[in-house]
Amino acid sequence: MPQALVTGANRGIGFELTRQLLETGYTVHATYRSTKGGLADITHPLLHLHKLDVRSDDAIASVASLIEGGLDLLINNAGIADGRWSSVEEIDFGVVSEVMEVNAIAPLRVTRGLLPALDHAEGAKVVMMTSLMASIADCHSGKSYAYRASKTALNMLTVAMKNELLDRNISVILIHPGWVETDMGGPRAPLRPKESVEGILDRIHEQTLDMSGRFVQYDGERLPW
Ligand SMILES: NC(=O)c1ccc[n+]([C@@H]2O[C@H](COP(=O)([O-])OP(=O)(O)OC[C@H]3O[C@@H](n4cnc5c(N)ncnc54)[C@H](OP(=O)(O)O)[C@@H]3O)[C@@H](O)[C@H]2O)c1
Repeated sequence: MPQALVTGANRGIGFELTRQLLETGYTVHATYRSTKGGLADITHPLLHLHKLDVRSDDAIASVASLIEGGLDLLINNAGIADGRWSSVEEIDFGVVSEVMEVNAIAPLRVTRGLLPALDHAEGAKVVMMTSLMASIADCHSGKSYAYRASKTALNMLTVAMKNELLDRNISVILIHPGWVETDMGGPRAPLRPKESVEGILDRIHEQTLDMSGRFVQYDGERLPW
């Protein structure tokens, strides 16, 4: 029985990932920061709920201690938006630090904290939920300073970690989910979570060790760095 852990699973893309992973037979450790949200309504024998703020090493260690056996899939999904400031003068550096902490540093913290569970003979996969907004080549409109920089940093931290993880049979994938209708994506987004997550799961299932470190969209399109 494959085993997965999803961060930020109480709503949005994380919730839909949890729902679809359960449907495909995964045991899912679904983590939530504040409220259980939609997770409270799922009664499934393979679902395990854990409270986890991804910024806390102690909380990560506590969740890691509750996982029995190897983890086959880690999805670092939790993330926050920034202030969408309209000018350099309006940037709030406190918010910049928080966005960098949650979107770039925390996925590395969580991955490190769960390495003992991910390091097993069958080989595991780590997904980093990044964004097209991480792409320097695609940054034509500018702005969204903190969000863009946090996801670009996440991409680099992931690629920098790739070889060390390969030595442990762990493959990493940087996935842009598309523009998805969630609290973050807003009501004008063209994609529903269901379609985005179906694509994300296809990318995860096709992922092999020699694909490690790719930056790809939910539908398989390779993205420019
Ligand atoms: N939606 C899009 O169009 C889009 C596009 C590109 C990339 N993404 C990325 O996809 C991921 C999911 O986005 P979404 O649209 O589903 O966002 P969302 O609906 O705003 O949900 C964000 C999730 O992250 C959790 N979270 C925030 N801070 C956290 C923390 N410190 N510790 C643990 N969990 C935390 C939230 O928990 P609480 O409920 O407790 O706040 C929530 O579960 C994010 O990484 C986002 O950057 C989304």
